[in-house]
Amino acid sequence: MADQSAEFVVVANRLPVDLEKLPDGTQRWKRSPGGLVTALEPMLRSREGAWVGWPGLADAEAEPFVEDGLTLHPVMLTSKDVEDYYEGFSNGTLWPLYHDVVAPPAFHRHWWQAYVRVNKRFAEAVAEVAAPDATVWIQDYQLQLLPAELRALRPDLRIGFFLHIPFPPTELYQQLPWRKEIVEGLLGADLVGFHTPGGVRNFRWLATRFTDAKPGARNEVTYEGRTVKLGAFPISIDSAHLDELSRSPEVQQRAKEIRNDLGNPERVILGVDRLDYTKGIDVRLRAFEELLEEDRAGDTVMIQLATPSRERVEHYQTMRAGIEQSVGRINGTFARVGHPVLHYLHQSLPRDELAAFFVAADVMLVTPLRDGMNLVAKEYVACRSDLGGVLVLSEFAGAAIELKDSVLVNPHDTDGVKNALHRALTMPADESRKRMKALRRQVMAYDVDRWARSFLDALGLPS
Ligand code: ADP
Ligand code: G6P
Repeated sequence: MADQSAEFVVVANRLPVDLEKLPDGTQRWKRSPGGLVTALEPMLRSREGAWVGWPGLADAEAEPFVEDGLTLHPVMLTSKDVEDYYEGFSNGTLWPLYHDVVAPPAFHRHWWQAYVRVNKRFAEAVAEVAAPDATVWIQDYQLQLLPAELRALRPDLRIGFFLHIPFPPTELYQQLPWRKEIVEGLLGADLVGFHTPGGVRNFRWLATRFTDAKPGARNEVTYEGRTVKLGAFPISIDSAHLDELSRSPEVQQRAKEIRNDLGNPERVILGVDRLDYTKGIDVRLRAFEELLEEDRAGDTVMIQLATPSRERVEHYQTMRAGIEQSVGRINGTFARVGHPVLHYLHQSLPRDELAAFFVAADVMLVTPLRDGMNLVAKEYVACRSDLGGVLVLSEFAGAAIELKDSVLVNPHDTDGVKNALHRALTMPADESRKRMKALRRQVMAYDVDRWARSFLDALGLPS
């Protein structure tokens, strides 16, 4: 049993590293996928905190260990938990519901029961590691019951919660059979953070409608004799680190090699995502295909990098099949021997390799149907100290609020996306440089450390 010694604890469904079983039966740790880990890892390493989370493998029992100043505390999930709590309630119910129902959410009582059970397990794990009066920062939609569960066990703790995905419109949220329980779970925190002011408004309304919470001052509610603060904290990236990485001679050289390997086309379009149906990968493939059909794409090659994600969840399987079919169709029609027009890698790449792709790309296509923030858009900007490149960005990504100098598109409007892509491919250099300069001012100034500091200041944690 761990001692209660950690003064600052981050809790997320996943640890920043995943345990991987190799074919020879041995195990190794590798970086976990997704924006949450990208954002939090550098911040937490600099604070020497503890991280409580699942090591990404069913039935894996692992002891706490220290990595680079960060103490990692694995929480075990059985294969049934993975099926019902992670793939089921988290990613079959909440993920689609919170992303504007772009795929239909499923409501199953046994998934909900698993969600309750696992949130309680996390509460016990955190209660064991947190020092008296420690600060605990809970992350994301998989753990929305944890603030209240933890407060019941450890009323001495200061508890913050941040939601990394959008908080849905109230009409959609109300579909959830367990809407009251989840709002009550979140109200266990001292501070509940969202990416946007819209999320704050929606949650505040629901809290006063479905629970005994009463409206307090602006961005506050009172609940069970406590004040619960609410706030909008748009997340960001480790901009300076990525900027530096992308300027390195190795990354610059690798970017040239990538263009060379592609046959030195005039223009390179890039998409980088977890393979998720919210990301609108199909939208951008359709836009590119139509430009090719209309003979308006010029000498252009597109690359789509897609990290494998949630591969046992049905919507993900259907989407992957659809995308891979489109890739085959597009190349079948427009490629020449040795010269595909579209390169698709269903792989996760190391950070320096990813930076080289960002440097190599003339147009970055980020077209989610709905996204809490979208860090990829900010990463592209951070990698373009040369002021090259054009960012095409969906209005439905949280990042669109800050990255106004991108070419904004409505991903539901295929003609609009197609025309924006054409505009990006043919944009005069003085316009694209001006836009990139403005984007960089935003991304370099508002980095992840500033995000974390503003959240923790609002939570009252002395820095
Ligand atoms: P989400 O959190 O929904 O996955 P974000 O865009 O906010 O979306 O974050 C995705 C993170 O995953 C980014 O840091 C991005 O660089 C990384 N990523 C996405 N695709 C790949 C890939 N193919 N290889 C390596 N990293 C990737
Ligand atoms: C998004 C979510 C995270 C999640 C990540 C990867 O960033 O907000 O909570 O960890 O995707 O998804 P996964 O299901 O593989 O953890």
